[in-house]
Amino acid sequence: MAYETIILDVDNHVALVTLNRPDALNALNDQLLSELAACLTACQENDKVRAIVITGSEKAFAAGADIAMMKDKSFVDAFSGDLFTAETDQIMRVRKPIIAAVSGYALGGGCELAMMCDFIICSESAKFGQPEINLGVVAGIGGTQRLTRIVGKSKAMDMNLTGRFMDADEAERSGLASRVVPVKKLIEEALGAAQKIAEKSMVSVMVVKEAVNRAYEVPLREGLLFERRMFHSLFATEDQSEGMGAFLEKREAQFRDR
Ligand code: HXC
Repeated sequence: MAYETIILDVDNHVALVTLNRPDALNALNDQLLSELAACLTACQENDKVRAIVITGSEKAFAAGADIAMMKDKSFVDAFSGDLFTAETDQIMRVRKPIIAAVSGYALGGGCELAMMCDFIICSESAKFGQPEINLGVVAGIGGTQRLTRIVGKSKAMDMNLTGRFMDADEAERSGLASRVVPVKKLIEEALGAAQKIAEKSMVSVMVVKEAVNRAYEVPLREGLLFERRMFHSLFATEDQSEGMGAFLEKREAQFRDR
């Protein structure tokens, strides 16, 4: 499928998806969101893709939902049309790992999209924020929920109430970003991380994604039970005997996703 607002490159089992509306700092409009959702679903179905990186430009990962697109909407338009729900639900159904590689602005829906990814690697220029309060609205796809679970109540309140931006160091300190790297190294670092993941058994990779995400959904006891049962289940895979056998034989494991 040809995309107009994103660019897809697949190389060495890693899909690099670049948001591409430079004139609007990659603001998320209907077209971009539906192309992104369709592209990620296609990556999910493509056996050549084992890990995904989403990035933007040096200036902006994404400066939020497209304000021009939203400005004249009524409550009924937003509510009855369930604004942003179908695309974000579709993105959340992707079972392969997704890394957000963030340089520059990740604001509003941009910050929320980054948080929908499995982890965030950012550059020193990154600025995260939930400035919707300045527009007379609030975050709509996770900025009050995921951000609070990630950085805690105090910082989430601060960002959502004042609209202030968080820089890269604060983002890493707060657990929002897993790593901070120089701007010019961002893509290399994110692709390197994706490449490492792509070499693992896809079964274990998808179990990790489900199990860690479950930590946000269920009580600890249930999460621990899920983790333990998945751990037990993996002993049914060939990749378990390959992985452990390879360690003991002092060689690289050759995983076959079964
Ligand atoms: C539409 C946007 C945009 C956005 C930037 N642009 N952000 N267009 N929607 N969210 C456009 C500008 O209008 C401008 O277009 C061009 O991109 C460059 O932006 P400038 O403002 O000129 O750049 P700069 O001065 O460098 O400022 C960068 C910025 C600022 C600080 C990121 O653009 C900004 O504050 N943007 C809005 C951030 C925001 O409020 N995000 C939350 C959106 S609401 P022209 O044509 O003039 O060159 C949201 C709700 C989420 O995300 C709910 C669920 C998804």
